[in-house]
Amino acid sequence: MKTIGILTSGGDAPGMNAAIRAVVRTALDKGLKVMGIQRGYSGLINGEIFEMNRHSVSDIIHRGGTILRTARCEEFRTEEGRKRAAKVLKVFGIDGLVVIGGDGSFTGARLLSELGVSAVGIPGTIDNDLAYTQYTIGFDTALNTVLDAINKIRDTSTSHERVSVVEVMGRNCGDIALYAGLAGGAESVIIPEKGYNLNELCRNILEGKLRGKMHNLIVLAEGVGGAEELAKKIEEVTGIITRATILGHIQRGGSPSAFDRVLAARLGAKAIEVLLEGKKARVVGIRDGKVIDQDINEALSTKREFDEELFDIARALSY
Ligand code: F6P
Repeated sequence: MKTIGILTSGGDAPGMNAAIRAVVRTALDKGLKVMGIQRGYSGLINGEIFEMNRHSVSDIIHRGGTILRTARCEEFRTEEGRKRAAKVLKVFGIDGLVVIGGDGSFTGARLLSELGVSAVGIPGTIDNDLAYTQYTIGFDTALNTVLDAINKIRDTSTSHERVSVVEVMGRNCGDIALYAGLAGGAESVIIPEKGYNLNELCRNILEGKLRGKMHNLIVLAEGVGGAEELAKKIEEVTGIITRATILGHIQRGGSPSAFDRVLAARLGAKAIEVLLEGKKARVVGIRDGKVIDQDINEALSTKREFDEELFDIARALSY
């Protein structure tokens, strides 16, 4: 292996830059040449590729977003597009590819590896929805952003004695909602893994009010439904003024937390180690505090085990 390429793909996540930095500097340290690919698979197909040096990744460790830019690429979903991508890699002499992204990006890496490309995936998504790894880069930062917002919403919710529904991201995964709800002392956490019962929810709100609760915070994962709609239903049933807040893309920005930066450094270094070992279709991740690598097919077919214990703790502490 002489030359590696690196790209970021799918939704950006805080800590992607720290991961790019770790990959680039580890690779250079091992004597490899590094090519940066801009705008994910779309830039790969279009040959938006440039050589990177240690200086290319200076002053980015603390920055959110991704200096390589990112995109969701329709053309790459076709076999034609992927064949072009594999050819472009050859043209630039790239014999190992590092892909930082979520499950869609990993599927792309898997399909490229079927065309003979040595690819390794680094989990970068705020959703924390990749079952093979305990944490994805960006989750911790997003969680803290949500927590900060919840703390603020609690102030106004208490002052007005209202119910507040806070909608958070995560696609079909409830981790952002569950962890933020637990850390923020929410009265209810509604996530796709568990669903909810409107009557039960409203009863809890009314009983809470009778016990003297001044506010009622409900953290809703986007995978369950919209906050506006739920707020309307709650207000209709309980008669308590209910406001919805959709946190949206604020959750994807900001300076990465120390946890995400350290995770990015460890996974970036591991990705290069994996490529140098001659492994072809792998992903890196973290399990029980240890950095691991795994076959990309196995990783993508790993079923998510929902953390029932954590959900029960959040429920028991909520009233
Ligand atoms: O996968 C990351 C994520 O932020 C999800 O939580 C969210 O559903 C989605 O991306 C939003 O995507 P976009 O920025 O393309 O609207």
